[in-house]
Amino acid sequence: MDAVSRRAFLKYAAAATVSGSIAVACSSPPPTQRFITPDDPEIAARDRAAAAAMVVPMALAARPVTVDLGGVVANTWGFGAAAVGPEIRLTAGDRLRAEVVNDLPVGTTIHWHGIAIRNDMDGVPVLTQEPIAPGQRFVYDAVMPDPGTYWYHSHSGLQLDRGLSGPLIIEDPNESLRYDHEWTVFLKDWVDGVTGTPDDVLRELTAGMPGMSGMNGESGTATARPQYLLTDGTSALLGGDAGDVNYPYYLVNGRIPADPPQFTAKPGDRARLRIVNAGADTAFRVALGGHGLTVTHTDGYPIEPVRADALLLGMGERYDALVTLKDGVFPLVASAEGKNARGLAIVRTGPGEPPPPDVPVTELDGRIPMAWDMSASQAAGLPRRDVARTLDLRLTGEMSRYEWSIDGIPFDPTDVESNRFGVRGGERVRLVWRNDTDMWHPMHLHGHTFQLAESGSRKDTVIVLPKTALATYFDTDNPGVWAFHCHNSFHQDRGMMGSVSYEI
Ligand code: C2O
Ligand code: CU
Repeated sequence: MDAVSRRAFLKYAAAATVSGSIAVACSSPPPTQRFITPDDPEIAARDRAAAAAMVVPMALAARPVTVDLGGVVANTWGFGAAAVGPEIRLTAGDRLRAEVVNDLPVGTTIHWHGIAIRNDMDGVPVLTQEPIAPGQRFVYDAVMPDPGTYWYHSHSGLQLDRGLSGPLIIEDPNESLRYDHEWTVFLKDWVDGVTGTPDDVLRELTAGMPGMSGMNGESGTATARPQYLLTDGTSALLGGDAGDVNYPYYLVNGRIPADPPQFTAKPGDRARLRIVNAGADTAFRVALGGHGLTVTHTDGYPIEPVRADALLLGMGERYDALVTLKDGVFPLVASAEGKNARGLAIVRTGPGEPPPPDVPVTELDGRIPMAWDMSASQAAGLPRRDVARTLDLRLTGEMSRYEWSIDGIPFDPTDVESNRFGVRGGERVRLVWRNDTDMWHPMHLHGHTFQLAESGSRKDTVIVLPKTALATYFDTDNPGVWAFHCHNSFHQDRGMMGSVSYEI
């Protein structure tokens, strides 16, 4: 942000604080409540030690691009020649200096998912910065404090559902795991520039499902068969509906199964998989044919290792797993949960024909531990402490009108006060995700990594099953205005979002 626009933004933020607190709504904070703003010196002070940090420069230009998905060409918005942005890799404690140039026809911001970043670099329009206008640039400059598997993506509108995302790997200077290979497995559902755009998908979702109440199709005309709406996809693991959208393709590292990416190694080698679900509406069930997995990390944080045949990842979630490779050619399958389709990669440790894209993989139906079955490693667990505050967040909305909300109120993306929940610094917060809807939601909190129950795994994004409540715990140690939302892009866009904001 240049000096002028920054000032304008700060003025706007201040005005919003004053006018927003006068404007009604019973969940609004009382007029006396004041919140820290992203420009507060306390926030910049967080990175003061960073003067000594190693600076890792990165140039990202968001622009219209034509990408090859493996024989299928898509016109999309991306950061380069591929459907996945470049992998950013640094070491915990390094300072990322990412210069983002916006060559898109609309505004954008970039968010660093899962990172306990300083708030003014978090990349959420209106909450932490003005969007970067077309033709403008913005430098994200912040220390990356914690090791782990993360990712970055646009946080504007439905841009995440285009090519505007990529992996962000923060290496541990004291890595204790031993492995011969490290493979990033970046999963994505894909429509953009093939049969339509994410906006076309949202238009169909909001037009309503045939035969559903609340649809606003023209009366008297027969409704066309939906192109994208998933009408029959269910998942036992997700408690019912698997998702809302049928995508034409599911990608592993930007490739379709007809021309899959290939990982090569020697028999007996150990590989560390860093699996990221960068999808917009698809949970992926991931397995390596003929192999078991040892799961080591949830959303970047170490756990007590658990054995698994497959893993189920909601949008925004990551798992790391170790695997000791057998001799041969194996399918690494990312099955689109409830959607009867898959993404594919090939793992090769010897000669031979690759398996066909639809090869059966029995591990997909084997043992699938969920995040709430896992425990943080001793070092990664939060210390025991009394809860100072409980935030009870009701996830609300319905499929028929395709409106999603928090406590019945859809987020207003122009209003920093919208669905704002206050905390104070230095608190242990119990954050309860209370899902009142008939669908599962992958709920994400920015700037913090919570813990499931008192000794569960550490997560920043967690699957909340329909009609259930899930308690999570975090410490308020990173002041700012922090978005939380469903990581289903369409639910987020239609209002299932708010903020956890630090009071002054
Ligand atoms: Cu992956 Cu609000 O972000
Ligand atoms: Cu949702």
